[in-house]
Amino acid sequence: MSRLACGSLTVLLGAVAVGIYWNYDGFDPESLRGATVVITGFSSGIGEQMAYQYARLGAKILITARREERLKEVVAKAKSLGAQEAHYVAGDMGKAEDCERTIQTAKEKFGRLDYLVLNHVGSSRPKMQEKLLTGPSWDQDPDTDYFVDFLNVNLVSYVRLASLALPLLKESSGRIVVTSSIWGKIPWPNVTYYCSAKFALDGFFSSLRVELMKAQQDVSVTLAILGLIKTQNVIDHVKNEEVVKTAAPVDEAAMAIVRGGATRAREVYYPFYTWPTTILRALLPQVLDNIVINIS
Ligand SMILES: *[C@@H]1O[C@H](CO)[C@@H](O)[C@H](O)[C@H]1NC(C)=O
Repeated sequence: MSRLACGSLTVLLGAVAVGIYWNYDGFDPESLRGATVVITGFSSGIGEQMAYQYARLGAKILITARREERLKEVVAKAKSLGAQEAHYVAGDMGKAEDCERTIQTAKEKFGRLDYLVLNHVGSSRPKMQEKLLTGPSWDQDPDTDYFVDFLNVNLVSYVRLASLALPLLKESSGRIVVTSSIWGKIPWPNVTYYCSAKFALDGFFSSLRVELMKAQQDVSVTLAILGLIKTQNVIDHVKNEEVVKTAAPVDEAAMAIVRGGATRAREVYYPFYTWPTTILRALLPQVLDNIVINIS
C-alpha cells in the first residue's frame, strides 16, 4: 500500500475511533426498568418529554407541576407508554411545604428513590416569559423583588428538594439531575436574574458533588447544560424565525438528560455547541464577553 493510502486509512480509522468514543456513554436502557424517578415541573416541555422517556424505559415516575389537569394527562400518557407506575403531586415548588410533600409522597409510593430530576420554573414562568426574551437590562429595570422570587423558585427550592431527598438517594446510590442552561455557564445581557440562578445552581450542585465524593457517598450529580431548545415557549415568544429554526428538538434534549443521569455524567451538553462555548468562557473570558456583546 502506498504511504498516502496508509496515512489516509490511519486518519480515517482515528476519526471513526474518536466518533465512537464520543458517542459511547455506556448507557443501558434496561437500567431504568423499575427505577423510581421524581421529575419536577414541565412548563418548559422538557420535563414532560423526560417523563415520557422514563416511562418508555419502564420506570416508576412521580411528576410535579402546578396544574392538576395537565398532570393527569401526562400521568395517563406515561402509563400508556409503559411506566410501571405514574403518580403526581400538584404544587408550587416555590413553597417549602410542597417540596416536603413531593419527597414524602415519593417515599410513600415507592419506598425508595433512584432519581431526583430538578427541572421546574414554577410560578416564575409568566413574568419570565415577558422578561426573558425581550426584557429590559438590569440597569434599566432593577426589579429586586422579582429577583428574590425568581431565585426562590429556581435556586432555593432546588437546594431544598435535593436536601430532602438526599437521605433516600444515599440508600439507593441514587442520582441528582439538574436542568441548567448555557446561561449557567456564560453571561448574557437582559437575563441577569436567570444567569444568577443558573450560575448559582452550578456552584451549589458542583460543591455538593465534591462533598459527596469526598465522603465516599455514592450519589451522583449531573448538570444539564442546554442551549436553545424548541419548546412551546420558544415557538410562541421568539419573534425571529431564523433563531427558532436553529432550536434543537425537545425530545432529543430530554433523552440527552435521561442518558446523562443514567450514566452519571458530571455534565450533559446539548446541543453540542454548549460545550465549546463553556470551554471558551473558562479559557478566554474576555473573548467570550466580546462575542456575547456582538451577537446578543
Ligand atoms: C435589553 O435591554 C435594553 C435596555 O433596557 C433594551 O434597549 C434592549 O432592547 C433589550 N434587548 C432585548 C433583546 O430585549
